[in-house]
Amino acid sequence: MKKIYTLAVLLIMIFTLVGCQLGNTNDDTTLTVYTERHYDTDQELYDRFTEITGIKINLIRDEADKLITRLENEGEDTEADLLIIADAGRLGRAKSLNLFQPISSDVLDNQVSQEYKDLENHWYGLTMRARVLVYHPDRVLASDLSTYEDLVHPKWEGKIVTRSSTNIYNQSLMASMMEIMGEEEAKIWAEGLVKNFARDPQGNDRDQAKALVSGEADIAIMNTYYIGKMLYSSDPNEIEVAETVKVFFPNQETTGTHINVSGIGITKYSKSTDQALELIEFLTSVEAQKSYADANFEYPVNPLVEPHELLQSWGDFMKQNIDLDTLGKYNQAAMILMNEVDWK
Ligand code: FE2
Repeated sequence: MKKIYTLAVLLIMIFTLVGCQLGNTNDDTTLTVYTERHYDTDQELYDRFTEITGIKINLIRDEADKLITRLENEGEDTEADLLIIADAGRLGRAKSLNLFQPISSDVLDNQVSQEYKDLENHWYGLTMRARVLVYHPDRVLASDLSTYEDLVHPKWEGKIVTRSSTNIYNQSLMASMMEIMGEEEAKIWAEGLVKNFARDPQGNDRDQAKALVSGEADIAIMNTYYIGKMLYSSDPNEIEVAETVKVFFPNQETTGTHINVSGIGITKYSKSTDQALELIEFLTSVEAQKSYADANFEYPVNPLVEPHELLQSWGDFMKQNIDLDTLGKYNQAAMILMNEVDWK
């Protein structure tokens, strides 16, 4: 009898405890997310998260640098719980401005490959992309291509396009070259590259691919996912461009292809850190990573998820073996250097 009584008390205690826990996560919590990502997939994922947890998402979309400045200005008064931005260079900048707080989660450490997160857990990658060489196969053979370093060869004079040096993707590529080559050599490389530009840098990554098909250039430096996005675009011209050009992963025999991430961190002054962590754990789960992979043609950061078949068709590739933190560390210096070599 006593045993039954003890068991009943124990059960009541457990139910009360569990009830309280559920109450904590299923209350009226709303997470405010500052994000520069503007894709339908992301919205579908937030809706799914709300469906599972009851936690609502208040989304504030803007350009990354504006969100960073806004967080800085708002300080302790910010409503933001999470910041999502593209590029480790920018994530590093946000970290150095003290905008994130470190995260401790075994779930995250299992779901996100070590190479795609901040060394001190201030941010975790959500998606990975490579900055590759895209070429027109009528005028360039894959066997003519080899490395980023080779792009300064006189044979490429007037044949290369990429976007401006104000663009973070190129700043991060530059930062990686500074880490690999040393600053002096990297500057010489950048000078040579600028000399081989077919035109003053302009437009976005897609415009670089379009310049190959219009005959303005032979090689474009751009991110992998734009090829996927153009291939499945509603614009027939973009489909034609993506079907024409070819992707080449440089530095496969040497230092590997430059990669980068979009990532997420919990803001320093978030008051809902448990729920914020739940969202990051959800976004890096197999379910969410599959959505990112299939809809945006980015590489998953979760090792259990396969990339989209288009990316699989390009094959595995060797990545630059440098800490992504490095890109943030060299960001300022990279901008100065690019300015010095007149990379517009
Ligand atoms: Fe992009």
